[in-house]
This record gives sequence, structure tokens and C-alpha cells, in this order.
Amino acid sequence: MDEMPSGDRELLLAAIAQLEKAYAPYSNFHVGAAARLSDGDIFIGSNQENASYPLCMCGERVALYNAAANKPNVPVDAVAITIKNQHATIDKPVSPCGACRQVISEFEYRHKQPIRIILKSDSPEVYVLNSVADILPLGFNATFL
Ligand code: THU
Repeated sequence: MDEMPSGDRELLLAAIAQLEKAYAPYSNFHVGAAARLSDGDIFIGSNQENASYPLCMCGERVALYNAAANKPNVPVDAVAITIKNQHATIDKPVSPCGACRQVISEFEYRHKQPIRIILKSDSPEVYVLNSVADILPLGFNATFL
């Protein structure tokens, strides 16, 4: 993290701070996320679970929807995502689930700009992706509709 640009580090620290706010009594897998908008504002999120399991909502989607609900017309430049498995040490960055990749893709399409994705788990290394296209090849979007 020491080698990261200060803006990315700040965003990742905002995501890490969300880990303790996750509501994850069923999986015990906490996800913290933070989205930076092009105007510099940061919107946070964490995963929110439900006894009816399919209703669980991923942390990165909470952060992105929080951003969109507050500032619908401001593009998202970057999203940082981190995790804490309460029962295990995860020694490599965890990447977003398929549903979240699709949602990030929609945000890229909506604002016509790529979103940098910053990933960190328990190990010191950080992965930085320049676009969700790197982890969602041949994605589906509105151009097909
Ligand atoms: N989860 C996320 O928040 N983001 C992901 O990309 C993958 C999974 C959450 C959902 C659920 O609360 C817990 O992690 C275990 O799947």
C-alpha cells in the first residue's frame, strides 16, 4: 500500500474502514468497498446479508448504488474492494463476483468511462485493474438491446 498513489491509498483505506460495518452474520465474510467519483467524493458500502440468503447484497454494489443515488450524473473513477473472512486468512486479493462485475460494467457504460478497480485482502499485495473489461470479457451491455 505504501507504493500506491495517495488517492488510491485513501480510497482503499475508506474501503478497509467499512469492513467492521458489514452485516454478514451468515457468511462471516465481510466486504468493504468505496467508490471515488470524478469530483473527488467518496461513497462507501459494505455487504448486507439477510436470513433469506438470496437477498444478500454485495459491498461493492452498495457503494456504487450509494454513489449513484447521491450523485447520479457524476462518473465513478475508481472502486476499492477489500474483504475479511472471519474464519480464514485470504492470501491474495479477492475479485468481485460475476453479478458485481456486470454492475460495474453498467456504470462504465452509463458514464462512458472505465472504472479502476483496486483489490486487497489480507496479504500486502494490491491488484489494480484499469477496467472491469479486464475481468469481464465479452460482457453484455445495452449496445445489444
Ligand atoms: N460478497 C460481496 O460483498 N462481494 C462480492 O463480490 C462477493 C461476495 C458478499 C456477499 C455475501 O454477503 C458474502 O460476501 C459471501 O458471499
